[in-house]
Amino acid sequence: MEYRSSVDIHSEWDIVAARQLGRNEAKKSGFGTVDQARITTAISELARNIYLYAGKGKIEIERHTGNGLRGITIIASDSGPGIPDIRKVMEDGFSTSGGLGAGMPGVKRLMDEFKVDTEAGVGTIITATKWLR
Ligand SMILES: Nc1ncnc2c1ncn2[C@@H]1O[C@H](COP(=O)(O)OP(=O)(O)OP(=O)(O)O)[C@@H](O)[C@H]1O
Ligand SMILES: [Mg+2]
Repeated sequence: MEYRSSVDIHSEWDIVAARQLGRNEAKKSGFGTVDQARITTAISELARNIYLYAGKGKIEIERHTGNGLRGITIIASDSGPGIPDIRKVMEDGFSTSGGLGAGMPGVKRLMDEFKVDTEAGVGTIITATKWLR
């Protein structure tokens, strides 16, 4: 079974709301406090990127329950400018905004699965999953 919930990202307050939703869903899944922190940090980074680079978008949280694999998927989507050179971005330290450029590589490290779909002028969808073990 899958339960999906979401937060629209328009302002910095929405980033806080997305974190809270993620923490609650991670708790419901049975993740411990360390993994809850990993999941909320990943959500923060993705939501902040949406706010900074696309202006607006959405964070969806999918909770996988039932007898099969249990876990949490974060889907961060926007209709912003897209990421022209995703390979560069995944190397630590690349930033177009004077940031540390640690956000996206950090999310990849914190989660078990990580996928980026992005197209210039169309937008970006980042999907990241953590499995409960
Ligand atoms: N949703 C997005 N839409 C368009 N460009 C993006 C998006 N997310 C990230 N980027 C681009 O990828 C770059 C790297 O993102 P990343 O989060 O790794 O670092 P940063 O945001 O620059 O710095 P940090 O997250 O460490 O403060 C950004 O500088 C930006 O150019
Ligand atoms: Mg960032």
